[in-house]
Amino acid sequence: MMIDDLALARAIHVLALVHWIGGVAVVTTIVLPGARKLPNAKDAVAAFEGFEQRFASQARISILLAGLSGAYMLTKLDAWNRFQYASFWWLDLMVAVWTLFALMVYVLEPLAIHRLFHEFALRSKDRAFAMAIGLHTVALIISAFAIGAGVLGAHGGLP
Ligand code: HEM
Repeated sequence: MMIDDLALARAIHVLALVHWIGGVAVVTTIVLPGARKLPNAKDAVAAFEGFEQRFASQARISILLAGLSGAYMLTKLDAWNRFQYASFWWLDLMVAVWTLFALMVYVLEPLAIHRLFHEFALRSKDRAFAMAIGLHTVALIISAFAIGAGVLGAHGGLP
């Protein structure tokens, strides 16, 4: 039996999302709040960075796979013109979420954010962690919404 390459791309897409957004959920709801509770700023930063650095290098792979498999499906479905139609807003949302994370993980974080957060957290632990938790929470909510909309949209569940 021939492997259905569209189905394979879909499976890779979903697996990559599970790894990537699942990791974001762990960072947001477990790692950051746990690190914030540590009394010493140096320990808090080390606890967060120990997880975050490892996860970021894995997420660089899953984000790449999510993007490549998404682009492959668009090509295979001959669906690039969907971006012209408002009814495919869920596809625009996917690309917007992807672009936001890709910019962060491949460009901004290694270039500046990592150093800026490190310095900010050593100076003002509670404020820095409150800000990081807030921003991660917003990103997580938008990503979860994109996943829900993506499943509904891809399976004809949206008007
Ligand atoms: C460059 C980025 C992306 C592209 C080009 C892309 C493209 C696609 C395409 C073409 C489909 C199949 C649609 C169909 O079968 O009609 C799909 C499915 C899906 N995408 Fe994306 N996507 C991208 C990123 C994302 C992101 C960031 C998320 C969520 C955070 C996401 C969530 C989903 C979900 C949940 C499905 C439905 C899977 C299923 O149940 O079959 N995608 N995507």
